[in-house]
Amino acid sequence: MHVLGIDIGGSGIKGAPVDIEAGSLLAERYRLITPDPSTPEAVADCIDQIAKYFEWDGRIGCGYPGAVKNGVTLTAANVDQGWINCDAKSLIEQVTQCKTSVVNDADAAGLAEIRFGAGRDVQGVVIMITLGTGIGTALFIDGHLLPNAELGHLDIRGKDAETRASDRARAKKNLSWRAWAKRLDEYFLYLEKLFWPDLIIVGGGASKNHEKFIPYLTLHTPIVPAQMFNAAGIVGAALGGMEMAVDEPK
Ligand code: BGC
Repeated sequence: MHVLGIDIGGSGIKGAPVDIEAGSLLAERYRLITPDPSTPEAVADCIDQIAKYFEWDGRIGCGYPGAVKNGVTLTAANVDQGWINCDAKSLIEQVTQCKTSVVNDADAAGLAEIRFGAGRDVQGVVIMITLGTGIGTALFIDGHLLPNAELGHLDIRGKDAETRASDRARAKKNLSWRAWAKRLDEYFLYLEKLFWPDLIIVGGGASKNHEKFIPYLTLHTPIVPAQMFNAAGIVGAALGGMEMAVDEPK
């Protein structure tokens, strides 16, 4: 089955058709710059442009950078506030005329890694962490997702974890990899203490530089880079709607 996967991000909106049984992209991904302001209407327009680019009239699966329930986006840490309580699913369906599902972006990336990447066949508690504009997290037990875990917003030293330790924070504050790894380590140790995971998978933009910070981490949990890199968000977005049965019985 083929689904158009769309990854809505703070800086770019990326999409490609996905073979959801194989977990692979069927074409080179197409990327548009996230409009400013990133209102739901402006982003839905970009999604429509991506659908038109691929001459798409099938299903669309979107990953959104905030909590999502039944197609309604509930939070908006790094996008326009108009997404709070927005019926994103209906809006995108109206604009594209395609059946659409919307899930959290870290849940999407995590699903892709659990089914096809670094978390494949791993039993026990797996935490997927995406390090990008924000910090996204997805929790799995024996391959099953607990959706909308917003652990990027845990409080560390009186601050939101993602403002201290996201990849954006590293770039903005011009931190060395070592200095940033120290902040990450503090965050991971906290997660470890709360969840006792069996595996942590690190994805998102920063994961392509994993060898620059993973060696500095002191936690006991095995920690590995994501295997699907750029594709995880798109593949997972395509998978999301189907796996989580967010909109209709299968
Ligand atoms: C949001 C999460 C999202 C993460 C990565 C955070 O600010 O609250 O829902 O997964 O950023 O985009």
